[in-house]
Amino acid sequence: MNTIFETIKTIAFDIDDAIKTADLGYSDSENSSGEDQLKLDVQSDIIIEKAFAFVAIVKNLVSEEKEGVLELHETGKYTICYDPLDGSSLVDVNLSVGSIFGIYEGKLQASNLVASVYVVYGPRIELVIAQHGKKPMLSRAFGTQFREVGEISMNEKGKLNAPGGTQQNWSSVHKTFVDSLFNQGYRLRYSGGMVPDLHQIMLKGGGLFSYPGTTDKPDGKLRQLFEVIPFAFMYEQAGGQAVNEKGQRLMELIPTHPHDTSPCFFGSNHEIEAMKKAYGVH
Ligand code: F6P
Repeated sequence: MNTIFETIKTIAFDIDDAIKTADLGYSDSENSSGEDQLKLDVQSDIIIEKAFAFVAIVKNLVSEEKEGVLELHETGKYTICYDPLDGSSLVDVNLSVGSIFGIYEGKLQASNLVASVYVVYGPRIELVIAQHGKKPMLSRAFGTQFREVGEISMNEKGKLNAPGGTQQNWSSVHKTFVDSLFNQGYRLRYSGGMVPDLHQIMLKGGGLFSYPGTTDKPDGKLRQLFEVIPFAFMYEQAGGQAVNEKGQRLMELIPTHPHDTSPCFFGSNHEIEAMKKAYGVH
């Protein structure tokens, strides 16, 4: 597993370099979810593919940017599902973006996730690794090396609220719930980049990030294998919770297709319990 973590560290520096220097225009293609691909998305995907081509314990790669599974090493043990550059449309306005990696052993379902990693490309490069039985570990880039700076542990209750999606497409239950958080003094913190938004809530102790099912996207927007499950694992390891609109743990998801999405709520315990109550699912 360490080889995978070390490879991701190298990838992080290469993608950061690409963000700083590459062409920010669109490519001629769409990704498998029908979204226009930036040249930077494609370039980040290639960086990751090339880096794992030499890591024998990686059996398969599944990219958010591509349809299907790329078979790498027949005798490998792990499948890595990754979003090479989440929130890439924020690069042209110079906001933070990130890469997300879910490392699975066996069938691609949440219960088979063995570790997850994300990288935040912001004013600094930060990288967080979550493994079973440990709090997520935050590392920061110093020069050309990452150094561990400490474990991440969430408080029981936080102060931040990050509500995703278009408000006019929210259900009335969701709108009432989000309003109630603001009426209690929660602060709005939403950049439109899942990685920095969830990172901020974890590092500031807690709060809620939600991307519900909406009238235009009944199953939400965020992809289970590349975004939802890796972060659900992070939040649970940090002492928080991650559930869907029925109050079920996202760590019980079994995707039927690599690009399936799910409504999702990530937060500290207090806010998730409040959400279950508001939705009548506790
Ligand atoms: O999945 C892409 C993404 O950019 C996430 O990083 C982010 O959380 C979400 O979409 C934002 O979506 P919206 O603009 O609909 O709130």
